[in-house]
Amino acid sequence: MSAVDRRTFLKNASTLGLGLAVASPSSLLHAAAPAPAARRRYAVVGTGSRSMMYQTAIETDFRDHAELVGLCDANPGRLQLARERSRQLAGRTPPTFAPADFEKMLATTKPDFVIVTTIDGTHDDYIVRAMDAGCDVISEKPLTTTPEKCQRIVDARARTGRTCRVTFNLRYAPACTHVKHLLMNGEIGDVLSVDLHWMLNTAHGADYFRRWHAQKKNSGGLLVHKSTHHFDLVNWWLGAVPESVFATGKREFYTPAMARRLGLAGPHERCRTCPEKSRCGFYVDLARNPELKSLYLDHEHHDGYVRDRCIFRPEVDIEDTMNVLVRYNTGATLTYSLNAFSAWEGYTIAFNGTRGRLEHSVGAPKPGGQPVWGSTRITILPLRGPAREIEPWTGVGDHHGGDRVMLEDLFLPSPAPDNYLRAADERAGAASALVGMAANRCFETGQPVALKDLVRGLAAPTYSPMPSRTAPVPMPPALPQ
Ligand SMILES: NC(=O)c1ccc[n+]([C@@H]2O[C@H](COP(=O)([O-])OP(=O)(O)OC[C@H]3O[C@@H](n4cnc5c(N)ncnc54)[C@H](O)[C@@H]3O)[C@@H](O)[C@H]2O)c1
Repeated sequence: MSAVDRRTFLKNASTLGLGLAVASPSSLLHAAAPAPAARRRYAVVGTGSRSMMYQTAIETDFRDHAELVGLCDANPGRLQLARERSRQLAGRTPPTFAPADFEKMLATTKPDFVIVTTIDGTHDDYIVRAMDAGCDVISEKPLTTTPEKCQRIVDARARTGRTCRVTFNLRYAPACTHVKHLLMNGEIGDVLSVDLHWMLNTAHGADYFRRWHAQKKNSGGLLVHKSTHHFDLVNWWLGAVPESVFATGKREFYTPAMARRLGLAGPHERCRTCPEKSRCGFYVDLARNPELKSLYLDHEHHDGYVRDRCIFRPEVDIEDTMNVLVRYNTGATLTYSLNAFSAWEGYTIAFNGTRGRLEHSVGAPKPGGQPVWGSTRITILPLRGPAREIEPWTGVGDHHGGDRVMLEDLFLPSPAPDNYLRAADERAGAASALVGMAANRCFETGQPVALKDLVRGLAAPTYSPMPSRTAPVPMPPALPQ
């Protein structure tokens, strides 16, 4: 497998093993540890793949500041795995609870925070129930999947006064923070328009069509599930609030017709029982991957969740090709695309400013070469004069090193002051997810959507100051005559 394929398709595998994701020793974090009594108490709902990053962080690097007090999941098998993981990481086993006993968990284990890492379409339920029980919330992205669910969260936040953090880890990826730094410092003046194109390859991209993500009721579609990251980055990079959205979307690759065009008899139920597995370039063997097997295959009898559904099956109802236009409260505009069957994985973005253009890409293949995830570029092009390559800030670990930095911001009692204001709450979670929800509405109506019509009482996120949009701008040097 290429580096890209390993990172993408088997991304989960790298984080499934006990203690792999964030278990790097960091004695510094323990140096000024408070007494154990001062530790914050965390309960986790949703004990699948993503939850392991939080569990490992709480029970290893941040154990002096944090304690895992309860676990909840709809699948008793995955719940027991999480419990066993605690035993191995921390030498103790937090109590486990079924979804119907969520309130009982909160009442008996008394967490300060509930970490929500269930599937996207259920986030609102747990966020609202946790806030109503007096807990603060840390939710995985997307905040939620529909305007109605978003309204419930906004109302619960206002009603209870509890906080809701949304973990946009890409803000913390060093190269993304570097771009924010350059834009904040006015390298290209104020930004008038943005072009962002995000590519998912046929390993990572195809995987969404096998899993729960393939149904909009679970994920909101890729423009919500995936693009909330991307819309959040643009919102935050610009320090602006999206106001209106127009979009088109279609599914033209992961379809029964494409299965036949690729020489198969048609779609089948799942890889495991597929009669054409030997001829399908998208075949996945869950049993051969120890982590995927232990997390999903071994426990599908509990809830019927099948992790290797045929990507060409007709029941898929999410798009694989999407184009979105966004207008911001600053007047800036965004042209965005997401493609889920691309030949390479990564993104290109260009910011057009009053003093020049900033181009940034991750993963773009070099001519004649293989795409390499992590090949990151930042270029500043003044309106006139030579372009400058900038050496991007770097980090190590998942999501370009962003996860590690974010965990410190989340779990240290006094995280370092942050000029870039990367910690996001439900306002930013909503401002980004609503762009995808509005796009979904466009797919149905063909009409532009104003975000203010989707949710009432939603305040604008807090951003660091950005370059003025009215201050004088230097005249570019004269053109050679
Ligand atoms: N920020 C990131 O980079 C990132 C990366 C991966 C996943 N995520 C997010 O993390 C969340 C979890 O994703 P995942 O990859 O771990 O998925 P997963 O399928 O591995 O785990 C989801 C878990 O939720 C449980 N669940 C489903 N419905 C439930 C319900 N009603 N009540 C309680 N538990 C329920 C499932 O049994 C499963 O254990 C998603 O919201 C996803 O968008 C974020």
